[in-house]
Amino acid sequence: MSSLAAFSKEQLPEVEAVMKNFLKQHTSDLKLLEAMEYSIAAGGKRIRPLFVLTIAAGFQGELTQGAYQAAATVEMVHTYSLIHDDLPAMDDDDLRRGQATNHKVFGEALAILAGDGLLTAAFQLLAQADLPAAINLALVQELAAAAGTEGMVAGQSADIQGENEALSLSELMAVHERKTGALITYSIVAGGLLTQQSAIILSLLRKIAGHLGLAFQIRDDLLDVISTTEALGKTVGRDQALAKSTYPALLGVEGAKEALRKELIEARATVRDIQNETTFNADLLQQLIGRFELA
Ligand code: IPE
Ligand code: IPE
Ligand code: MG
Ligand code: MG
Ligand code: MG
Repeated sequence: MSSLAAFSKEQLPEVEAVMKNFLKQHTSDLKLLEAMEYSIAAGGKRIRPLFVLTIAAGFQGELTQGAYQAAATVEMVHTYSLIHDDLPAMDDDDLRRGQATNHKVFGEALAILAGDGLLTAAFQLLAQADLPAAINLALVQELAAAAGTEGMVAGQSADIQGENEALSLSELMAVHERKTGALITYSIVAGGLLTQQSAIILSLLRKIAGHLGLAFQIRDDLLDVISTTEALGKTVGRDQALAKSTYPALLGVEGAKEALRKELIEARATVRDIQNETTFNADLLQQLIGRFELA
């Protein structure tokens, strides 16, 4: 079985290079470039590009420049979402990826613009990715739906409106599916679009993404309660301080852990459904799902 650690070490530098080079080549304002590079270079787990690449590799094997570009774009959109999420008008956080948040270093105006820049550059890159035109178009549509007013932005809006409100479980699921699940959905479906999978496989990929997107935010909510600032590289306890609606707030820590376990079991079962339909090497994907488990 190939290891996800080895795969990441080999493949992620390609994604990093795509992001860095594209931003450098297309940004004339040096301060803006510095602000965007600051948050990209801070790292992060790179979960979303890893979904794109492990799934494309599982179906097809060899990864192309187009796959690295499709993977880079979602990390750019995700990084923008974090910069804006941390702004004083939103979650008002000082620490991200183990360093000062973007607005703490560059000021609010530049942090807003760095986010705007990353978002727009992602679409510029995806529109000109080295892929057949029909795949470019499908990816652009998928990313726009995931990032925008039916996806992450809508979820962030609902999250902010949900502060100091007692949301029901189904309302909370709808927040999480959009604010976090939507970009995970792009990441998982992109692996299928890049390798031109059938409608049946794409819908199974969407089903996996539904479970994993929810699982990811449940885990994030749990870690905000049970982990440490040092381990996470972001300040813990913020959700309670901001009176956010979260899984642990609604179900308790044990209830949230149980909900996380259930979503992961469903996701793993759906991966096996894909293997019953087509040739798919799920080794790397199953290891990536393992990273969603709490230690
Ligand atoms: C944090 O995402 C924000 C959420 C959507 C929960 P990640 O946990 O993937 O953050 P990084 O990229 O590793 O910093
Ligand atoms: C953020 O959720 C989701 C985004 C779209 C950025 P959180 O607000 O819980 O993410 P963290 O905990 O600040 O990373
Ligand atoms: Mg938030
Ligand atoms: Mg936040
Ligand atoms: Mg959080």
